[in-house]
Amino acid sequence: MSVLGSNHHAAWTVPAEGIYPHQWLWDSCFTAIGLRHIDIERAKTEIESLMRGQWGNGMLPHIIFSEGKADLAQKLQEGWLHPHSPQGVITSGLTQPPMAAEAVYRLGQRMKLVERHSWHKKMLPHLISYHQWIYAERVGESGLAAVIHPYESGMDNAPHLVSEIRRYNWPWWLKVMESSRLTLLASYVRRDTKRLPPGQRMSSAEGIAYLNLMRRIRGKTFDSQAVLKRPHFAVEDLGFNCIFIRANEALVEIAKDAGHELPEKLVENIARSKKALDGLWNEESGLYFSRSLISGQLIKEPNIAALLPLYSGVISSERALRLSELLKKRSLFKTSWPVPSVPADSPFFNPQKYWQGPTWINTNWLVIDGLNRYGYTEEANELKKKTIELVDKSGFYEYFNPHNGLGAGASNFSWTAALTIDLLKN
Ligand code: GLC
Repeated sequence: MSVLGSNHHAAWTVPAEGIYPHQWLWDSCFTAIGLRHIDIERAKTEIESLMRGQWGNGMLPHIIFSEGKADLAQKLQEGWLHPHSPQGVITSGLTQPPMAAEAVYRLGQRMKLVERHSWHKKMLPHLISYHQWIYAERVGESGLAAVIHPYESGMDNAPHLVSEIRRYNWPWWLKVMESSRLTLLASYVRRDTKRLPPGQRMSSAEGIAYLNLMRRIRGKTFDSQAVLKRPHFAVEDLGFNCIFIRANEALVEIAKDAGHELPEKLVENIARSKKALDGLWNEESGLYFSRSLISGQLIKEPNIAALLPLYSGVISSERALRLSELLKKRSLFKTSWPVPSVPADSPFFNPQKYWQGPTWINTNWLVIDGLNRYGYTEEANELKKKTIELVDKSGFYEYFNPHNGLGAGASNFSWTAALTIDLLKN
């Protein structure tokens, strides 16, 4: 609780002091899910304060920037060029995994009937317009949502995202910079590597490529339709879609509870997405993958998202069994302190490096929920026990080495603290 106390700024919680000084979308959702057990009013405010950043077209931005001097990375991400960006707050022009409906629903579960109805009624218009925005701006023929920048997946440097960037968005000058080690210059302007060991973060070359992609999206004023017409990066991200499908289910429940009928078109779209996940399945490897909208092919670089179809709740019990078995293989996800963000046999695997190997508490939380959902209670309880033990042994870090359990990244990280509370209380 002291972590959530010291990271509390104004009406919201920053992910970690210093390194993450703004409000992030899925971070605040996870934080509110934990806070609901100890301070429901603060949990509500956490979600309400996310809505102050909502765009006129419904988008929930991935960052609402705090006041203060903006660095280059922030300047490139600021979405004010778009006609629908909000007045009075500066936000990014991208979104993040749509956890908001799930968070609203989970908060509602901690309220008495009357309070819950009014909470649901208040949040519903925001959630409807957000989900409608995703359908209108990001979902095409396939029924799956596209992300236009790796930051939108929430798992910034996961192998499938990095390999896609390297394939289609790696300009010649970056190749020159990389081979002559000029990318080291980036460390002078990076906020993260001033505070944390570079081996625990994205490489500078990747960081530069990401900023370059951001510059291109900004050149299109963060207009998704314009970006998707000739994309330099467009991925039907597995994790994002699993979370979206589950959030749709929460949205339906919230609307039911509030006595409100969802727009017909939205209901149709929700049904379409449930079926669409199947398009990401690859029978040969027995895995779901993300798909590149540039090549039209699955990007066969697995990461922790391979387990999130369990959380989506829309796969068959036979597939769920196959996914649950991945957790039992040492060559894949069974490390001493599971679940690694990348399978141990992946050429990308590095136990210290951000989304390329370490164990994260938010993804453990999603996997535990998914296992429970398909009746793998024993496995879910085992993972829950291990997760709590990990945090108890090492502290509230951003992520953890999956072999020795040592903490890495930022310390006093909000969602680690909040989701540990949630695991302890459930
Ligand atoms: C990093 C993570 C992202 C998170 C943000 C703030 O960018 O990759 O998932 O939302 O930090 O904690």
